[in-house]
Amino acid sequence: AAAEKGGYATFMEKEIFDQPHAVGDTLLGRTDETGRLVLDELRISEEQLGNVDRITVVACGTAAYAGMVAKYAIEHWTRIPVEVALAHEFRYSDPIVNERSLVVSISQSGETMDTLMAVKHARELGALTISVCNTHGSTIPRESDAVLYTHAGPEIAVASTKAFLAQITACYVLGLYLAQLRGGAFADDAQAVMKELHEVPAKIEDLLGTMDRVREIARFMADTRSVLFLGRNVGFPVAMEGALKLKELAYIHAEGFAAGELKHGPIALIEPGLPVFVVVPGPDSPHDLHKKVVSNIQEIRARGARTIVIAQEGDEDVVPFADEVIRVPQTSPLLQPLLTVVPLQVFALHLSTAKGLDVDQPRNLAKSVTVE
Ligand code: G6P
Repeated sequence: AAAEKGGYATFMEKEIFDQPHAVGDTLLGRTDETGRLVLDELRISEEQLGNVDRITVVACGTAAYAGMVAKYAIEHWTRIPVEVALAHEFRYSDPIVNERSLVVSISQSGETMDTLMAVKHARELGALTISVCNTHGSTIPRESDAVLYTHAGPEIAVASTKAFLAQITACYVLGLYLAQLRGGAFADDAQAVMKELHEVPAKIEDLLGTMDRVREIARFMADTRSVLFLGRNVGFPVAMEGALKLKELAYIHAEGFAAGELKHGPIALIEPGLPVFVVVPGPDSPHDLHKKVVSNIQEIRARGARTIVIAQEGDEDVVPFADEVIRVPQTSPLLQPLLTVVPLQVFALHLSTAKGLDVDQPRNLAKSVTVE
């Protein structure tokens, strides 16, 4: 077993460190020598894809957060409306899906019963279905019109890490492909983003080399009872994923919020010493989002929160209000989740370890939920 873990103490740790490959391998072979996206593997005609006027993502758990990240990006790149539905909610909500809809399911295992049922229902309604999946030959890809595999390799730890990054990557590839099909400025932008996406694996690698402080913070926090996570735009699902990892692995009450929602409720939870992670949008984010989140940090700090800030290298604006600053490499705003979630995974891993818990097999959870 030690050999299978490649020298790491747990599968989860190994899988976190596999993430540069999970992203890199998922990008591999999906562009030609000129940088154009080529997705012949989908075997869906350009006409059929060009007909799509609405996208619905169905998934559960971490995969649904990947879908939420993808929504911001795909809508921005293609101007096609994207909705994200939890698969178990979708199935029984009388969903508005028809022949012009593309239903994208996301599933690491390809066996999650709720997601499978959602896909079957979408097909009955006439939708085109694409499965984003990590497991060859599994059920959901077989029941879908097409599949875009994530190449994260087998994920053993119950809590998903590298599959999440690979899912975001595959959804981005799909979104950029749809943008390319739209042509003109959409296609030009897609090319530029693809280029930047190819630089992400090396950035994850660099980031993974700087996690010592995160491990220390986690160790000091072994007795913590509650942790909040704030994020905005693509940082919002990252905040929810950070909270999910902490619930799953360390059995700590944790919640992720949209930072803009703070004054509509969550700020009442802030009390002296409460740890709050804040995922800060890069300073080049549109609509002053960076400034807005920095002022959120200031607001919660003024009320005594212990602020642990995930910010880009070179972002000095956060420093005066941060108890801890965790740096991530620079990238454009929509690609940031591929970096900002990494310290949150590492934090949950080490907090769980500090509490003496079973990181790879948390209580009450299954790797794949094959019952409704
Ligand atoms: C379970 C796992 C989660 C995973 C979810 C969806 O709850 O514990 O880590 O995100 O299922 O699984 P899937 O295989 O469909 O991605």
